[in-house]
This record gives sequence, C-alpha cells and structure tokens, in this order.
Amino acid sequence: MRSERLVRDSVKEIKEYVPGKSIEEIALKYSLDPEKIIKLGSNENPLGPSPLAVEAIRVKAGKVHLYPPSDALELRSALSDFTGYPQNNIVVSGNGMDGILDTMMRLFMSPGAETVIPIPTFSYYEIATLANGGKPVFVKRDKDFEINHREILAAVNSKTRMIFLCSPNNPSGNLIGEEMVRKILDNTGAIVFIDEAYVDFAENSLSGLVKEHENLIVGRTFSKALGLAGMRLGYAIVPDWLSRDYMKVMTPFSVDVLSIAAGIAALGDAKYIKKSIETIKKGREQLADGLEPLCRVYPSQANFMMIDVAPRTAAGVCEKLLRMGIIVRDCTSFRGADDSLIRITAGTREQNKKVIAAMEMIL
Ligand SMILES: Cc1ncc(COP(=O)(O)O)c(C=O)c1O
Repeated sequence: MRSERLVRDSVKEIKEYVPGKSIEEIALKYSLDPEKIIKLGSNENPLGPSPLAVEAIRVKAGKVHLYPPSDALELRSALSDFTGYPQNNIVVSGNGMDGILDTMMRLFMSPGAETVIPIPTFSYYEIATLANGGKPVFVKRDKDFEINHREILAAVNSKTRMIFLCSPNNPSGNLIGEEMVRKILDNTGAIVFIDEAYVDFAENSLSGLVKEHENLIVGRTFSKALGLAGMRLGYAIVPDWLSRDYMKVMTPFSVDVLSIAAGIAALGDAKYIKKSIETIKKGREQLADGLEPLCRVYPSQANFMMIDVAPRTAAGVCEKLLRMGIIVRDCTSFRGADDSLIRITAGTREQNKKVIAAMEMIL
C-alpha cells in the first residue's frame, strides 16, 4: 500500500470512464440469449465490418511476427487520398481517437495547464486532461446543447492549452456552426481540437478550416462509418508544423500490422461506406418518426439520437430496456447532463423497429 502513495494526486480526481454495456455482461446479468441482444449503446456500425477489411486482416495475419512501419506511411497515404489533405497533415493512432487525444495531451499539457470543455460531451477529454496533470474548465451548453463563443472565450486564460469542441456532439448529436468556430479560432492562441468522430453522418465538416488556422486539430476515427471500432484506429488532420512533434511523442509502432491493413481496405471500400451512411440516415429518420410521439427527440447529425424521457428517469427506462435485451446509453454519467436523457445508436431497420416497439410499451 505504501507504493500506492506514489500515484499522482490528479489521478485520484478522475471519475472512471463509463463505457457502453457489453452483450456478455447483459446476457449474464439478465439470463438472456446473447444472440438476441440488440446493442445500441456504443455507437458502433450496425452492418458489421467491411468485407474487404476482414479479408485484408486474414491476409496479413501471417505477418504479425514483424513490426509495422513506425510512421504508418501507407495508411497515412490512403488517408491523404480519403481526406484530400497531404500526408504531412495526417497523424494516426493505434488506440482510436482516444489515442490521438492522449498523444496531443503529451504534446501540450503540463501540470497546472487548463483545457476548456463545453458540457455535456464525450468524457475522455476530462479524463485525459486530469491524467496529464491538467485542470479541466467546464462551460455549460445551453438548453439545446449549443455552444456560445463568448462563454468559451471567457473561460480561456493564459493557462489554457486546449479547447475541445465535439461536432456532431456526443451525446446530443448537434453540429457546431462554422462561424462560431471561426470566432473562437480567431480570438485564442490555444489549440482548438474539433472531434469529428461522427462527421461522416453529418451534412458538413469543419476540417477545411485546418488550412487557415495553425491552432486547429480535427480528430477522426475508424470506429463509426468505417466499421472498425474493435481495431482501435484513429487519425487527425493537423497543421503543417504539428506532425513532426506528434511523431516524437507518440508510442513507437503505434498502429499495428492488422490495423494498417484493415484501415487501408476500409477506406477503399466505397460501397460499404455509402451503405453505412445510408443505413444510419434512414435509421435516424425511423427512430425519430417512431419515438417523437412518445418523448422529446433531439435532431441528430450523428449515428445516434438523444431522447428525453422526463418525467421518467433514464436509469429506470434503460433498466426496462435491458431486461428486454436492448442496450442503449443512459446519459446520466455525462457531466452536466440531466437524468432523463438517453442516447440510442441508429441500428438496422429491424433493430430500430424493436427499440420503438419496446419504448411504446415502456413509455
Ligand atoms: C465523440 C467521440 N470521440 C472519440 C471517441 C473515441 O473513438 P475511438 O473509438 O476512435 O477511440 C468516441 C467514441 O465513441 C466519441 O464518441
């Protein structure tokens, strides 16, 4: 126990990351057939992986005794084609966008440094800030979960290193307007990190602004539209000056052999990507049509919908859904969220139908 004292004080302040529930956990807890459980709590791709990615993994499996190229150049080159940005503006991580966030923290944070986080939002920005000795400063979004540049800028001071903007935001699903982002970028020297994990399902991206602003980073992931959440691949579009420093502090060989192969194959599977996006857009409409008569449904540009089940609590409704074998996300664990908000990933037509039918019974 004496060694435990050596753990940094800031770690003691960290609230553990609350992941979506797993099929195995729920099958065991409620004695359900795992095959029948519908998992719509973690914003994964309901189509399964791209068949081209699966084949690429199979082919590369015989090569896993070799280290991957440390700069993942082939993957970055495929990302350059995919995004339209030069390779030098692309960095990658073998631990999803979470890994990108971690590496950025290693680059910019020091004890006492601050980050600004509009809440409710994705919780890892807070965890990563504290884990790196920093102090998260929270700014509450308005009742429609919009941000306001004046409030964000008022929270910035000489200790601020990073501002986190999630667009579309998790869990509310709304985009941030370009004008709002410009007003923030133009009035701060801090790094603005825009998390675009769900941007493939949205009407527009803010990534074009990286060309104009040397303090902007746009984070992306292979976990959603590209269907590779289990491979843990992330990337970011960064200004020219940043990629060399990023490479210095990232863990060497960060992206493994199988992830590189799967990532390149998934980026090249235009048919799969198109089908993923179409499935989600149709699923969002289906969920909205089915749930709007029952509760408040927030408009979403992501692969999930946020609903408000007040006067019921999210915990109560989620528990009932779990007993019926449907996993969704109770948003109570998101800092700054009310206790009646639930996030539901858009699934296949059949899955969405079951969710709507279950909600009709519960609500
Ligand atoms: C907004 C947001 N950013 C980042 C991530 C992390 O993505 P990854 O799977 O690439 O680590 C998630 C995961 O769900 C997310 O919702």
